[in-house]
Amino acid sequence: MAVQISPSILSADFARLADEAARVPNADWLHVDVMDNHFVPNLTIGLPVVEALLKATSTPIDCHLMIEDPDRWAPAYAEVGAGSVTIHAEAAKAPVRTLRQIRAAGARSGFALNPSTAVEQYEDLLPEIDMLLLMTVEPGFGGQKFLDVVLPKIRRARELIARYGGEVWLQVDGGVAADTIERCAEAGADVFVAGSAVYGAADPSAAIDHLRELATT
Ligand code: DX5
Ligand code: ZN
Repeated sequence: MAVQISPSILSADFARLADEAARVPNADWLHVDVMDNHFVPNLTIGLPVVEALLKATSTPIDCHLMIEDPDRWAPAYAEVGAGSVTIHAEAAKAPVRTLRQIRAAGARSGFALNPSTAVEQYEDLLPEIDMLLLMTVEPGFGGQKFLDVVLPKIRRARELIARYGGEVWLQVDGGVAADTIERCAEAGADVFVAGSAVYGAADPSAAIDHLRELATT
């Protein structure tokens, strides 16, 4: 499993997004947190900003939609060119249809679970999913404390993916930093979102190298 690091621009300077993207040339993805103040108690950015960012960077964009009614909104993010579009299990009413629409529009399909949402009920959906995202904080804000309680679920998700036999990336998001990333990797995660651990560092690019090294060894 190749380790991938996806720095979250939620912790970057929103007034200088192109510059902030350029500070992390070694990132595999740029993680964009779309929040609607309904699914989560915070409001961030949406499609026009994603479109602008796509023009400003060659790093693929990993859109994490923390919004109500993702069935309505998610395909557009894939259509404008996001490389990966993730919808939340708790918000999607027709996840199979939406995941298929994301793929049909040329993006990788992502499916996210909040800390208290069980993974087993979604085993049959794995063929529709390119990346399973297990939240390691309650979604809504950067800089929260990593929830160790999710570690057993990461392990079980990795087992389900192995049993299925297809390639599904396993992403973790929330509180992922130098002191928590090894636990996530050991449990089976291979794509790591990090906001404050990257953009809160004096040298974001060096922080990515360090996180990658910790997750790999
Ligand atoms: C939280 C977002 C995360 C956030 C992570 O709801 O989904 O992507 O940016 O921030 P850190 O890494 O600071 O916990
Ligand atoms: Zn996120």
